[in-house]
Amino acid sequence: MKYLVIANWKMNLAHSDATKWLDTFCNIYKPNDKYQVVIAPSFTELELVTSTLKNKNVLDVQVYAQDISKFNPGAYTGEVGAIQLRDLGVNGVIIGHSERRKYFKESMNEINEKLNQALNNNIKSVVAVSVKEQVFALVENTNNFYLAFEPIEAIGTGQSEDTGKVNAFLKDAKQIIGENITTMYGGSVDSRNIRDYLGSTLINGFIVGTASKDPHTFNDILTVISE
Ligand code: PGA
Repeated sequence: MKYLVIANWKMNLAHSDATKWLDTFCNIYKPNDKYQVVIAPSFTELELVTSTLKNKNVLDVQVYAQDISKFNPGAYTGEVGAIQLRDLGVNGVIIGHSERRKYFKESMNEINEKLNQALNNNIKSVVAVSVKEQVFALVENTNNFYLAFEPIEAIGTGQSEDTGKVNAFLKDAKQIIGENITTMYGGSVDSRNIRDYLGSTLINGFIVGTASKDPHTFNDILTVISE
């Protein structure tokens, strides 16, 4: 099984930075059967990322959005919906990131509605959770998505979570949702601490924020995975 490694750009890169990032990354990136790379830019850069990867013939890197509307197409100013993402060639979406829960007060209801939008439109989803109650609130859905454990204390702090704690959380999450769900970790992952997680059969992917701001530090993580 390949590790799903997501470069979550958050709101860090403007168009010119994103263009440079992609130019550099496409030059240094090497496909490997140990990872599936995903770039998750802001909505404004989705077209740039999909078209650049195509033009540079980097066809095995996928593109995810950082959010999706809970609504069907219609009069929802400012929203971006599933059909629009799919039409752009976007492969997947991150749903329920803790920054969305914190700053936009996203509820579990909304997260489930977003997940349904993605599932109904054949868009893969990575649902991010930080506490077990959020996993329980997802059980109404299928296990046809990826579940990422993202402990709040570990996000953007440089303090990655202890592997034992990540394993314990993911083990419980699988018991709640189903053994078949693919589980991931996110929180201050970099090329130094990633080795701690690679031995765990419960960790099948990573969401990388800070270390994905620079294409070299992101690629360093891939190099370690490939070893
Ligand atoms: P971080 O972000 O790597 O900066 O901790 C991870 C995330 O928010 O998904």
